[in-house]
Amino acid sequence: MARLAASIALLAAVALAAAPGAAARPLEAWLDRQRCPPPGFDALQDFNVTQYIAQRWFVQKQEPLVYQPADRLFCVFAEYQPLREDPLDGLLVNNYANEGAVNGPVVGTSEVADGPLTTATIPNKRRPSKLRVAISLGGGESFRPIQLGRGGDYWVVAAGQSVDPADRSGNLYDWAIVTGGRPNRRSNGACATGSPFGLVRRFQTNNVGLWLFTRKPIDPVNTQLMMGKLAELGLDPSGLLDVQQQGCTYACGPGSGQCN
Ligand SMILES: *[C@@H]1O[C@H](CO)[C@@H](O)[C@H](O)[C@H]1NC(C)=O
Repeated sequence: MARLAASIALLAAVALAAAPGAAARPLEAWLDRQRCPPPGFDALQDFNVTQYIAQRWFVQKQEPLVYQPADRLFCVFAEYQPLREDPLDGLLVNNYANEGAVNGPVVGTSEVADGPLTTATIPNKRRPSKLRVAISLGGGESFRPIQLGRGGDYWVVAAGQSVDPADRSGNLYDWAIVTGGRPNRRSNGACATGSPFGLVRRFQTNNVGLWLFTRKPIDPVNTQLMMGKLAELGLDPSGLLDVQQQGCTYACGPGSGQCN
């Protein structure tokens, strides 16, 4: 019955759409709200990657992923170092987390933990807010690490300075929202990344994920600001889990010169 009513409503809506004039506009707006990605959704147009990578990013909330499951969402941070002089030529990705508890065993990638070498490339140098992250091989004095496969999209879709002027780091970005590329999936009346098939998504490593980053380890004010931005962007926040940062010492794993 509800389905029939919905069909009739849809037919009426389609009939209205066919009618020229103002009546079509609310319908267009309604249809736009059903689309994923939301119309106009994109990574930042104006983005300075040098500023973005200048300081460590602490994760406040994120969706759990195969390689970052819920039991590893303790003391999570990300750091990026240019592989060459110009960050546009590629970045080393250092992901840090503790497993099981705050200050538990260190897990992650590249230098901060004994994990796989991970790099980010910028396929289009005019759009540095669209990075591509992949497990990589090699990387010596004379050659760059080679990414294995196409990698996963990493889009900076919003970033800015702290709401509280007293709290600004001096960097252009005190907070940032990152998606695993285009949010093509309809979810809870909004959009999300990853396959529409739950089982596929559970094992998906690329083009999936949502992260809320801040420069300060604990930053409820900017986290709240980002939750508001998610709504503006049409992104579904319901998959986000809190990352524990209280009491973290950010001890280093093997081979790191970057921790503390
Ligand atoms: C980005 O920021 C860096 C470091 O603050 C600055 O030197 C550079 O001119 C900026 N680049 C652009 C394109 O604005």
